[in-house]
This record gives sequence, structure tokens and C-alpha cells, in this order.
Amino acid sequence: MSKFSINSLLPFWASRIQPYPAGKPIEEVERELGHSAIKLASNENPLGPSPRALEAIRMSLDRVHLYPDSGGYELRRKLAEHLQLEMSQIILGAGSTELIELAAKTFLSGGDQGITSQSSFLIYRLAIQEAGAGLTLAPLEGMNVDLTAIRQAITPRTKLVFLANPNNPTGTSFTAAKFDAFLDAIPAHVLVVLDEAYYHYAAPGYSRSLDLVRAGRNVLVLRTFSKVYGLAGLRLGYGCGHPELIESLNRVRAPFNTSRPAQTAALAALEDREYVERSVELNFTEMRFVTEELTFLGIRFTPSNANFLLIDTARDCEQDFLRLLREGVIVRPMKVYGFPTSLRVTIGTHADNESFLAAMRRIARAPASANT
Ligand SMILES: Cc1ncc(COP(=O)(O)O)c(C=O)c1O
Repeated sequence: MSKFSINSLLPFWASRIQPYPAGKPIEEVERELGHSAIKLASNENPLGPSPRALEAIRMSLDRVHLYPDSGGYELRRKLAEHLQLEMSQIILGAGSTELIELAAKTFLSGGDQGITSQSSFLIYRLAIQEAGAGLTLAPLEGMNVDLTAIRQAITPRTKLVFLANPNNPTGTSFTAAKFDAFLDAIPAHVLVVLDEAYYHYAAPGYSRSLDLVRAGRNVLVLRTFSKVYGLAGLRLGYGCGHPELIESLNRVRAPFNTSRPAQTAALAALEDREYVERSVELNFTEMRFVTEELTFLGIRFTPSNANFLLIDTARDCEQDFLRLLREGVIVRPMKVYGFPTSLRVTIGTHADNESFLAAMRRIARAPASANT
């Protein structure tokens, strides 16, 4: 009997994929430390879920024996009203991550090309690779996504461009005028996936993306309930685009991809404007507090339009990550994003941020070469 070999089943491109390094789960860290920890690693909402969403989830639990509405009718109806779009312009996904992968799966195959920025959300490059397509990484311009470099990288084989605005992990954003000019300059055979996961944290008016959707342009706008709406654990995001684009994605989408509690919670979270405002305000105040303190400590950072900061400690980020972990603070080392001396830290509650800054002060005193 010949030996079973998984490797012989695996296409060449799949064997080259580096799996996504997810943030370390807080439960795992607490188990290892034997005491509580704070997680500032995945840009979640530090206020916890909206009370109205929680109540809605509880109410939905006695129906979890039933499959959810596969097309998410009620939630898409509410989103359409909220965003002034048609329902046919909206698709739901298990987080925007699923929609990123769905766009790649729907439109890319071997021989095609997908482009993203060299230092942007890693799922974009994974999605392009998972579809078996060629991946092009455009350089940053300073710490900003370089729309000109991306435009210049487009070839006749390019089908998809993935952009985050604000960008993760730099926290920088480009203006609506810049994006309009970019869209006007690129060929019509290219679809731009514009990921606005951090939309609510950026200055109002920085984006006019939904006007572009209304105008039927070649853009798929992605948003999520994982950040300001505080529902990361439920996995719900949505995409907005031309009805034909949405219809194409729906052909490939798995049925029942978003759960019943997630749909119900998202409906309630959309209504909870007070919670959203409070979350944005907390982020604004605390961003100012953390950046002032970092400046005082002499630690460099990139000014951010999101709910996280990219900080440069000028030391090996993996070591600083481990030092902070021992202090009970989980952040993200950014080597994998091309910043070997940087950490990405989520803006937390005032108490979280105080703990993070206290830990930074303590580790700043440790010699750079100390073993962890
Ligand atoms: C730019 C960006 N897009 C999408 C996501 C994923 O969001 P979701 O939880 O909706 O999959 C993240 C998560 O950190 C992100 O930073």
C-alpha cells in the first residue's frame, strides 16, 4: 500500500502560504501568567459589546436551532436604510475577512494578478495567494499607502486591488479626493476592494466611498461590526457595491455564512448610536492621552486615524512583545508587516492605557539585549 501524502495534494501556491498570525488569545496568556491580562492586540472595542446588542443576542438564543436567514434580509434592509443604498448593493460576511476572501475567490484564478500595499492587512495577500493568483506588493510612501505606486503596478492581468483606509497597521489614511483621482486613473477591468474597517474613527468626511458605490463605480467597500460596534467575536461584516458585483459574490458565498445571533446583534448595534458615539469619543480622548505620554517617554509613533498606534521602540519587536506579555499586556509585534522594531497597540480604556504605559516604562529600563 503506498503512503498517503498530503503534500502531493497541495497545489504549489498553497504550500507557499504563511498562515495568518492571529493575536494571542487573552485566555491563553492568562493561563500562562496565572493572573489577568489586558489585550491591546486586535483593535477591538475596549468598552465591550453594546448593551443593546447583548440583550438582542439573548433574545435570539431560543431560535438557534433554526438556520439563519441566509441572505440576512432584515439586516441588509436596515443597513440599506442606514447607508442610503439599495439592499441589492449590500452583502453580509462572517467578518469583513470572509468578504476579502470571497472577492478573491470570486474574481481571481491562476494567471491573474492581485495588488496590495506592502504593509497592509495581511489577509489581502493571503486571499490573493489562496486564489492561486500572482501577488504584487506596492511599496509604502513613508508610512502612507502609495496610490501612485499601486496604479503603476497595474497590468492587463490585474483584477483586484486591496486597500485599507485607514490602513492597518500604520493607521494612516488617504483623502476622498486622492481616492477619486486614483479610481479615475485606473483601468475599468480592475475592481478596488476598499476596506474601511476603521471608518468611524477617522475624521468625518475623509471618505466618500458610498457615493462611488451609488455612482456604480468599480469599487467594493467593506465595513465591519468587529471594531466600533464591539462584536468581533460574532463575526459580521458587510460589503457595498454595484448590484451585479454583489450578485457575483453571492454566487460563490456559502449559504448561512452569517449566524442568527450575529445578525440580530448587528441590527441592535446599528440602533445604538449612543454606544458608537461613546466608543469614538473614548478613542479620541485616549489616543491623545497615549500619544502625549509616548512623546513624553521619547517613543516614536505614527499619528493614527484609527483605534491603534504603530509605535517604534527601536528594539527587536519580538523581544519587546514578550517583555510586555510578561507584564500582562498583549500587543502585536510588527515584524511580519515589515516593521522589525515596531509594535501595534490598540487604544484601550483609560485603565488599560495606564497599564500599557506603566509596562512600557518598566521595559524601557530593561537593557535592549536582555533575554526574555
Ligand atoms: C483593515 C482590516 N480589515 C478587516 C479586518 C477584519 O475585520 P473582521 O473582524 O470584520 O473580519 C481587520 C481586523 O483587524 C482590519 O484591520
